[in-house]
Amino acid sequence: MDINKINILSYIKNKNLYSRETFKEYDSLFQIFLENEKFCNHGNLKKWKDILNLLPDSNSNYTDYSGSHIELGEKSSLGSDDKKKLQDLLLNLSPWRKGPFNICGVNVDSEWRSDYKWERLKSFLPNITNMRVGDLGCSNGYYSYKLLGLNPELVVGMDKTALYVFQFLATKHFAKQIQKLLILPCSAEEFDSKNMDFNLILSMGILYHTKDYAKHMEAVKKLMKKNGYLILETIISSSKKNINIDKGQTYAGMKNIGTIFGKDNLIKILKNKGFHNIECVNESFTSSIEQRTTKWMQGRSLKDFLLPNGNTIEGYPPVCRAIFVAQKK
Ligand SMILES: C[S@@+](CC[C@H](N)C(=O)[O-])C[C@H]1O[C@@H](n2cnc3c(N)ncnc32)[C@H](O)[C@@H]1O
Repeated sequence: MDINKINILSYIKNKNLYSRETFKEYDSLFQIFLENEKFCNHGNLKKWKDILNLLPDSNSNYTDYSGSHIELGEKSSLGSDDKKKLQDLLLNLSPWRKGPFNICGVNVDSEWRSDYKWERLKSFLPNITNMRVGDLGCSNGYYSYKLLGLNPELVVGMDKTALYVFQFLATKHFAKQIQKLLILPCSAEEFDSKNMDFNLILSMGILYHTKDYAKHMEAVKKLMKKNGYLILETIISSSKKNINIDKGQTYAGMKNIGTIFGKDNLIKILKNKGFHNIECVNESFTSSIEQRTTKWMQGRSLKDFLLPNGNTIEGYPPVCRAIFVAQKK
């Protein structure tokens, strides 16, 4: 049968990206691949499936999440022709915003050095041994892979951008033995907590993109178990005042921005939403070393959206990101 006539879930099954047991155990989660109409009707689905279908096979089971790169497959496991083919195919899934990955020796040098945020974050994560983690807005799964290093029962990533889910599926082609990580094509708001709830939720890089922050916080809370932990990472306003970005306007060149909250205002929101033990554990300015144009994201990046004094091109103070830890009551 023409591979493109097969629905994406059958395709994932045919490619053996997970074991039969995993498909059975998480059947209701895998159904999201078929239920999400936006994903299923995406105009590029055929193109992306073709790319996945052409990926060379490596029989290396090597994985290492401990360094800056998520490493999948031994460097020597592909010959030079296959490596070149792999690089070209992965480049066709650009832009790669999050990474870096090293896949069988191919260095995916993404726009973001996501390892910088991981370094700021990792010492504040609770013990998640044998617990379930939800990574909302997980992009291609860089942090979800990192979390596997902490020995959870399961990590479930969710992202509403179909391309990033395909990037994950491309990496998963080289990590078929991993059963504890699923990345699903849906928004946090669409995920039904009846399917599963979580001991730890990460919401990183989402809040400033939402038009309705209260709705996002409600969705976050609904997905959490009682006493569960939240890691909320977002851009904050360095003054006490929130910055509201009007429809059609940009912030550091980014469209689709709602409100950039002041730190104390965000703490108040968390309190009002039913969280306690709230702490802001890190604040850091984003630099053009952490976020930059590369071969894997050839568009404009942070430095193109900053003035010489470090303010954004719109005249707002330098981009500052904060990490909050909180517990659901
Ligand atoms: C700025 S990136 C952050 C990625 C990653 N979490 C990080 O911290 O680097 C935002 C990602 O969240 C996704 N996204 C935005 N809103 C979302 C939502 N409500 N539910 C799920 N994904 C969302 C976008 O598609 C994008 O991949």
